[in-house]
Amino acid sequence: MGLFLQVSTVLVITVSLQGWHPLGCLQEERIALLHLKDSLNYPHGTSLPTWRKGDDRCCDWESIVCSSRTCRVTGLYLWSVRNQELGDWYLNVSLFLPFQQLNSLILMDNHIAGWVEKKGGYELQKLSNLKILALEDNSFNNSVLSFVEGLPSLKTLYLDYNRLEGLIDLKESLSNLKHLGLGGNNINKLVASRGPSSLNTLYLGNITTYGNMSQLLQSLEAFPNLTTLFLHHNDFTGRKLGDELKNLSSLESLYLDKCSLDEHSLQSLGALPSLKNLSLSALNNNISSGGFLHLRNLEFLNLSYNTLNNNNILQTIGLCDLNNLQELHMYHNNLSGFMPPCLVNLTSLQHLDLSSNLLKIPVSLSPLYNLSKLKYFDGSGNEIFTEKHDHNLSPKFQLESLYLNSHGQGARAFPKFLYHQVNLQSLDLTNNQIKGEFPNWLIENNTYLQELYLENCSLSGPFLLPKNSHVNLSFLSISMNHFQGQIPSEIGDRLPGLQVLFMSDNGFNGSIPFSLGNISSLQAFDLSNNSLQGQIPGWIGNMSSLEFLDLSGNNLSGPLPPRFNTSSKLRVVYLSRNKLQGPITMAFYDSSEIFTLDLSHNYLTGRIPKWIDRLFNLRFLLLSYNNLEGEIPIQLSRLDQLTLIDLSHNHLSGSILSWMISTHPFPRQYNSYDYVSSSQQSFEFTTKNVSLYYRGSILRYFTGLDFSCNNFTGEIPLEIGNLSMIKALNLSHNNLTGPIPPTFSKLKEIESLDLSYNKLDGEIPPRLIELFSLEVFSVAHNNFSGKPPARVAQFATFDERCYKDNPFLCGEPLPKICGAAMPPSPSPTSTNNEENGGFMDMEVFYVTFWVVYISWCCW
Ligand SMILES: *[C@@H]1O[C@H](CO)[C@@H](O)[C@H](O)[C@H]1NC(C)=O
Ligand SMILES: *[C@@H]1O[C@H](CO)[C@@H](O)[C@H](O)[C@H]1NC(C)=O
Ligand SMILES: *[C@@H]1O[C@H](CO)[C@@H](O)[C@H](O)[C@H]1NC(C)=O
Ligand SMILES: *[C@@H]1O[C@H](CO)[C@@H](O)[C@H](O)[C@H]1NC(C)=O
Ligand SMILES: *[C@@H]1O[C@H](CO)[C@@H](O)[C@H](O)[C@H]1NC(C)=O
Ligand SMILES: *[C@@H]1O[C@H](CO)[C@@H](O)[C@H](O)[C@H]1NC(C)=O
Ligand SMILES: *[C@@H]1O[C@H](CO)[C@@H](O)[C@H](O)[C@H]1NC(C)=O
Ligand SMILES: *[C@@H]1O[C@H](CO)[C@@H](O)[C@H](O)[C@H]1NC(C)=O
Ligand SMILES: *[C@@H]1O[C@H](CO)[C@@H](O)[C@H](O)[C@H]1NC(C)=O
Ligand SMILES: *[C@@H]1O[C@H](CO)[C@@H](O)[C@H](O)[C@H]1NC(C)=O
Ligand SMILES: *[C@@H]1O[C@H](CO)[C@@H](O)[C@H](O)[C@H]1NC(C)=O
Repeated sequence: MGLFLQVSTVLVITVSLQGWHPLGCLQEERIALLHLKDSLNYPHGTSLPTWRKGDDRCCDWESIVCSSRTCRVTGLYLWSVRNQELGDWYLNVSLFLPFQQLNSLILMDNHIAGWVEKKGGYELQKLSNLKILALEDNSFNNSVLSFVEGLPSLKTLYLDYNRLEGLIDLKESLSNLKHLGLGGNNINKLVASRGPSSLNTLYLGNITTYGNMSQLLQSLEAFPNLTTLFLHHNDFTGRKLGDELKNLSSLESLYLDKCSLDEHSLQSLGALPSLKNLSLSALNNNISSGGFLHLRNLEFLNLSYNTLNNNNILQTIGLCDLNNLQELHMYHNNLSGFMPPCLVNLTSLQHLDLSSNLLKIPVSLSPLYNLSKLKYFDGSGNEIFTEKHDHNLSPKFQLESLYLNSHGQGARAFPKFLYHQVNLQSLDLTNNQIKGEFPNWLIENNTYLQELYLENCSLSGPFLLPKNSHVNLSFLSISMNHFQGQIPSEIGDRLPGLQVLFMSDNGFNGSIPFSLGNISSLQAFDLSNNSLQGQIPGWIGNMSSLEFLDLSGNNLSGPLPPRFNTSSKLRVVYLSRNKLQGPITMAFYDSSEIFTLDLSHNYLTGRIPKWIDRLFNLRFLLLSYNNLEGEIPIQLSRLDQLTLIDLSHNHLSGSILSWMISTHPFPRQYNSYDYVSSSQQSFEFTTKNVSLYYRGSILRYFTGLDFSCNNFTGEIPLEIGNLSMIKALNLSHNNLTGPIPPTFSKLKEIESLDLSYNKLDGEIPPRLIELFSLEVFSVAHNNFSGKPPARVAQFATFDERCYKDNPFLCGEPLPKICGAAMPPSPSPTSTNNEENGGFMDMEVFYVTFWVVYISWCCW
């Protein structure tokens, strides 16, 4: 899908940000949404869990965008929501008709095979505002064209990756279409049989090869307004592509990313002199010809993700002759050494991206000083260095965006030219060992500065604020430096527009300043791993934009904050490794959006609250290393999105309940700041004395339960075998009795299983050997009897220590031989003792003896 997907993702993000509305929505639309949910979950799916009966705020439900003016639904982003197991889905057109202001309907990848509508058809045409209809990745055939015909406002139609075939005819009713996606189908001709078409952009990526490509390209002549053509992911070796497209007189933009283009096909592109935009990213072969660079009108050229080196840019390609070029992408290539000097001849250049190469880039940027129009430069992921003498020349450019995230040591001081820049909006100097004070002058000099990244820059001293209030700065990261002292009390007044503030891993002390509470736009706030003291301020509960809060690893004491208010958007909360005391009162009672809650390593007391089931989006719950007591409330075991629960090291008692573990994919969120929260997310989870640090994307897949080191009693519930996705289960150091349920052999994904230090008895189920992913296993210190599971597969690697201190257990790998004088067995389970002794055993022994084994078990 390549480029196409990227394009539509951008679209989704921008639309959804504008459309957020906190209030309710129309009742008829809410009911219609619930009908729609039922239909796409038919007969037993569980998608869209946030669409709930009884919740009025349907504009806040996932995948929905409402108009902030009318509160009506304007966008439905139902992307991959129907589970494959449910079989084909037939669109019931009536379900969409209540959404009178719907302008974007995204139904990608939902196994749609057709539609049903009332007799007479043409029901869909009542959606008179629908502008964008995305039906990619379904099973429609050519008849879908008559289905969408006559939608009066439709401008954009995506039908890529369906079952379209042969000739596609855009009849008059589709003549207003501007953007059409047909990639990934098996088509060989496109016509507009009844009059001129206004088609402007056409996606023909990955067209199946047994379609007739020449005929298809020739047929495009019938679309006189076609300016933009996406042909990515096709094989054009051996054909003169440029000549085949020559008759498309208005073609300005040609996208050939991920294509196979040999020397001849590349050279033939020279036949398209009116091209302004050309994209040749991630080609399947080396760029072996520069013929296409006779395109003197080229304004935009993307050569990213290829194998360009300094020689072929200059000689083979002659890149530096393109003096109309405004935008040049050469990131992810093999450019090395110093920047190609001929770049100075590209005097029209506004945007230059050389990131992720092997270049040495002087932090002074002196080779670029003559590029007076340059506004954007990305040199990140190269070696940034400081020249011996930072000269006093000043550049002709005024940059808006500068990215110099370094590999290696980086700059040692702020380059002098930065003192003359006044238009900066985005600046990234991450990983440069700059050593110095916080550059508050950058904020003062650059009124429009929005984003400033100074992570891991060896900066020290106090955090200096700009002298005046600076409303534009929305993203500031100064994590991983050596800043000290208190956070200035005026921070909220001087930087009132902050959305993201990251100050983790510094030496800040004192308390969290009051003025931060005035930053109503703050969405993400990370002060972790400092030396802050005091209490968590109460005003934090009133920060209505806050989604991500990390105060872990400080010396905060006192109670949890008071109740977050009902409009709270809080999703991720880390308060671990502090000295917080008292019970978990009502703090998160109204925070139903929370999906990560980490309160571990504190001094919390009392019970796990019964209202915990109000957090129905909860996926990660960490309450370990506290002083919690009482039983697990039944409400907790009903949270059907949970994938990771750590209650270890508390004083919890009572029986272990049966659990559900979510198997849903991680909920997709379209949010400006989502990428930050997912990369920042991390926490420790202990499996078998090994603390694993889970971070970022791994978290999406991890599922585990840790109830170790508590006072749980009773038997392990049979239903635990239903946790088929679980990877780690630790019930050690409790007071559990009874057998290991035979259902354990269904835990096919399990990697770590620890039942040690309990009072479990009976035989260890022999079928545990079917757990082929198991790497860590212990049942030591229990009352098991009979023989351990056969020493095959994973179980060949578990040695004596995994089983020790079970007085009635005998046979390999334990030294005790079965049938010898044994203490009387407490249970009658080991009836097959005789069969177990003798010759068979020796055979197993000889086989496993030769297995090179690593023991993963035990303390
Ligand atoms: C191209 O299309 C074929 C057939 O439709 C499909 O199997 C293949 O995965 C597609 N390739 C890409 C990169 O999308
Ligand atoms: C389609 O949806 C409408 C409205 O919910 C319903 O009345 C109708 O029975 C549905 N039709 C089919 C074939 O399921
Ligand atoms: C195309 O799809 C429609 C609607 O699902 C179906 O009725 C028709 O039989 C299909 N036509 C072909 C040729 O497969
Ligand atoms: C094609 O573009 C021209 C110039 O922009 C415009 O006048 C004309 O109406 C367009 N043709 C169609 C069929 O939209
Ligand atoms: C492809 O189309 C061209 C032009 O219409 C025709 O000359 C050629 O024979 C066709 N090739 C195949 C394999 O169908
Ligand atoms: C381009 O147009 C000319 C004149 O109409 C025609 O002779 C030629 O075959 C066309 N070329 C292609 C590749 O379609
Ligand atoms: C050319 O590319 C630029 C930059 O991506 C884009 O803004 C512009 O719309 C493109 N022009 C055309 C005609 O596609
Ligand atoms: C820039 O272009 C001029 C004229 O084409 C040429 O003489 C000069 O060598 C070029 N400069 C570099 C650094 O390539
Ligand atoms: C930017 O700030 C520095 C340090 O305060 C100052 O010397 C310089 O004159 C300022 N530059 C501009 C263009 O205002
Ligand atoms: C478990 O309960 C017993 C008796 O009720 C108590 O003495 C012991 O301290 C508890 N252990 C833990 C780890 O809470
Ligand atoms: C474990 O359970 C037994 C019997 O239920 C009880 O006598 C004992 O005190 C418990 N031990 C702990 C540490 O709770």
